[in-house]
Amino acid sequence: MKAAQFRRFGGPEVLEIVDLPDPHPGPGQVRIVVRAAGINATEWKLRKGLLNFGDGLPQTTGRDVAGVVDEVGEGVTDVVVGDRVFGVSDDGAGAAELALLTHRAPIPPSLGFVDAASLPVALETATRSLDQLGVGPGVILLINGTTGGIGGVAVQLAIARGARVIGAAGAANQDYLRLLGAEPVTYGEGMADRVRALAPDGVDAALDVAGSGVLPELIALAGGPQNVVTLADIDGAKQHEVRFSSGFQGHAFHALAKIGGLIEAGRFWLPVERTYPLDEISEAHRVSEHGHVRGRIVLVIPPLRSIWRTCSCWLD
Ligand SMILES: NC(=O)c1ccc[n+]([C@@H]2O[C@H](COP(=O)([O-])OP(=O)(O)OC[C@H]3O[C@@H](n4cnc5c(N)ncnc54)[C@H](OP(=O)(O)O)[C@@H]3O)[C@@H](O)[C@H]2O)c1
Repeated sequence: MKAAQFRRFGGPEVLEIVDLPDPHPGPGQVRIVVRAAGINATEWKLRKGLLNFGDGLPQTTGRDVAGVVDEVGEGVTDVVVGDRVFGVSDDGAGAAELALLTHRAPIPPSLGFVDAASLPVALETATRSLDQLGVGPGVILLINGTTGGIGGVAVQLAIARGARVIGAAGAANQDYLRLLGAEPVTYGEGMADRVRALAPDGVDAALDVAGSGVLPELIALAGGPQNVVTLADIDGAKQHEVRFSSGFQGHAFHALAKIGGLIEAGRFWLPVERTYPLDEISEAHRVSEHGHVRGRIVLVIPPLRSIWRTCSCWLD
């Protein structure tokens, strides 16, 4: 199969498309023919060597995927060959023609592969961090970094839980944030004053998605470090005794199977800013790394495999 990988850490140019052996599912896994693979910020951080999940070199890339099941492993009962599923690629090898998934769910009927591939990591991460903050009805939640994938998902899931959300985004994204249902403020100097203008007594909880060095302000606004979670500021978390939320502490993959209700009710939506073919993955990483994607960017992988059966499930 064709797959993206890198042989050394570095800029987007280290990414290459190579031929790798077709993988086959073990117990509990399914194999999908990948139709679309989302790119979240973790991908370029791993490629640069800024994050390390214990994988050596060469290293594959891509966690968010959507496609069609074409093999099932022992003990799999939730899906069958031909089902449209989305999920997180085992071993981070989703930017490829085939991927193995342990954590997956059926794609909600009204979503195509591209939209579905934008969601899995963001759904899991946002759900986990909202749970850790105890976000529920009546909670006033501040989210720092709301324009990207995780931020956009966190805003909408928090609102669906009955929270009031104040979100920090760039000046160009204030209307976008209103569209998601949050009360927008711009980030940068004076952010805390702008939040206090909306919530004079401060907020109940704060989620730092951007990791932009604002933990002291979030702690002050939320009444202490125990009410703050960061997803991206490892050093700041240590320094300010804030919880760093990591998937290594436990996952919330159940969020994938639950999102269909909100989507079909028209209460959840994440924009896909742009799609790229797999062989333009370097450019897609470059755009992601620039740090101002609205929603997600997604790789599209054409249905060229000779193993495919004729089935309407291949259509988007
Ligand atoms: N801990 C975990 O379990 C976990 C899991 C997955 C990802 N992550 C991390 O979570 C972070 C977000 O990931 P993602 O994929 O959602 O990122 P993303 O989609 O690339 O987010 C980009 C967004 O960040 C916003 N942003 C940039 N600078 C900002 C600032 N100074 N203040 C506030 N917002 C700012 C931008 O908004 P504007 O365009 O409005 O400026 C942009 O749209 C990354 O650091 C990623 O590594 C953590």
